[in-house]
Order: sequence, then C-alpha cells, then structure tokens
Amino acid sequence: MLTDAEARAYQPPQGTLADRVILVTGAGGGIGGPLALACASLGARVVLCGRNVRKLEAIYDAIVAAGGPRPSIAPLDLERADATHYTALADAVRQEFGRLDGLAHLAALLGERAPIEHYDVVTWLRVMHVNVNAAFILTKTLLPLLRLSDDASVVFTTSGVSTRGRAYWGAYAASKFALEGLAQVLADETDNLTKIRVNTVNPGKTRTAMRAKAFPGEDPESVPKPAEVLPVFLYLLGPASTGVTGRRFDAQ
Ligand SMILES: NC(=O)c1ccc[n+]([C@@H]2O[C@H](COP(=O)([O-])OP(=O)(O)OC[C@H]3O[C@@H](n4cnc5c(N)ncnc54)[C@H](OP(=O)(O)O)[C@@H]3O)[C@@H](O)[C@H]2O)c1
Repeated sequence: MLTDAEARAYQPPQGTLADRVILVTGAGGGIGGPLALACASLGARVVLCGRNVRKLEAIYDAIVAAGGPRPSIAPLDLERADATHYTALADAVRQEFGRLDGLAHLAALLGERAPIEHYDVVTWLRVMHVNVNAAFILTKTLLPLLRLSDDASVVFTTSGVSTRGRAYWGAYAASKFALEGLAQVLADETDNLTKIRVNTVNPGKTRTAMRAKAFPGEDPESVPKPAEVLPVFLYLLGPASTGVTGRRFDAQ
C-alpha cells in the first residue's frame, strides 16, 4: 500500500493494465481524455464514455494511432440519460468484454460561481444530477459487471472543495461532498465482501476547460497539465493498489 506521496510519484510498469477493461466517464474531457489514453498505453481496453461523440472519436483515433488496444465508444449524456440508456451501456459492456475491471468517474459540471442566495436553482439541479446522481446510477448499474472482475477498482473524482466548503462554489462543492459520501458508503459495503475497491482522487488545479471557466483571469501556463495528475489515477486502476479502499488521494 502506497502513501499519498508515493502514489503521486507512481510510475506504472509497462503493460500494467493489460487486458483490464476500464470505463472512463468524461473521456473527451481535459483529464478524462489523457487518462483514457494513458490507460490504453498501459494495455487497458478502454470504454470511452461521454456526451460528445466527436471528442470521444478523437481520443479513439489517438489510442489506435498510438498502437493501443482498440477502445469502445459509449455515448451517454449524464444529464438526459434514463434507465434504458444505462442498461443499454451495461449490456454493451457485458456483450463486448464480459466484465468491468475499472470505473473512473471524470465527468462533471462546474455550474456557476455564485453565492447561495443568488444561485440559479436549475443550474444547482443540473450540477447535482450530473456530478452525484448520474455517478450513483452508473456505478449501481455497472456493479454486477465489476463483481465479475478479479480485481475491480472504482475511482470517483473529487475536489479541493469536497471537505471544506468555500464561498461561491455552490452546487459544485455540495456535489463533491456528496460524492465523497457515496464513495465512503460503497467502500464500506464492498470492503472484505468483494474484490471491488473504491477511492476518491482530488486532481488539484489542472489545466482544463473547467479550470479556465472557474478562474478566467488565470494564466493557464501557471496551472499543471493533466499528465501531471494521472499517476494516482493509474495507481488506483491497476494491480499496485489491490486492497486499497475507502481512501481519498490528492493527486498533487
Ligand atoms: N481541472 C481542475 O482543476 C479540477 C480540479 C479538481 C477536480 N476536478 C475534477 O476533475 C474531473 C475532470 O474535470 P476536467 O478538469 O477534466 O473538466 P472538463 O475538461 O470540463 O471535463 C469534464 C468532462 O465532463 C463531461 N460532462 C459534463 N457534463 C456531462 C454530461 N451531461 N454527460 C456526460 N459528460 C458530461 C464533459 O463533456 P463535454 O466535453 O462534452 O463538455 C467533459 O468531458 C471533474 O470531476 C472535475 O470536477 C478538476
């Protein structure tokens, strides 16, 4: 079991994710895309899940061009999906791969930066739905496939505002608190009873569209690139973290 600092410095051995089937949500996003690419470069068969098929196709092409195992594309709009969409996704993964070894939740909405008194109610509901409810529904739907793995890992992506709320972070902060709760409940339920581990990762400030939206005046060059936050995710998705569950990691 690695310490936080060791996990941050983790250097995945070549092929360490060979034959693992890993589903990444937000796979067209700033951190999700590079994570999907990194997983494939380590041998994983990646299910690219997201709402923007063109972005997913770009990651698909990059994985194939790099010689990685051919990924799958799973379009899913977490704001609009109903039960049939989730079931269809699980059925497709079962049919193509027969099981799931990793589930990395990267998709999220920032919402608006505003005081609670003025926070738009519809935006609040959308953020809570995408960041918490959809993560719950997807995890619940995929648990039977995770149970079929010998070494399954669920990773929820949290935030620096998930343990102490800060002014103007509204629904985003509340959603990340809730996500920590979901992860803790699931980690406790699966601990000792299954081969499924559940952890959360706070990437810390990372150069993506979400960061730019949250801090429009910031020089992006001053913010670490997504590649710098990947080691903890890769540690948690691979065999080096077997048995590690119920923990919260800071990727920086
Ligand atoms: N960047 C940071 O500084 C930072 C810091 C702490 C935590 N995080 C967390 O890190 C994770 C990744 O964020 P990021 O920085 O990579 O942001 P990002 O580039 O904005 O990526 C977010 C992803 O979520 C997807 N998404 C949003 N709404 C969706 C929906 N309704 N259905 C399906 N997918 C949806 C986006 O899809 P589209 O591409 O179609 O918009 C995008 O792919 C998030 O959980 C975020 O909260 C980021």
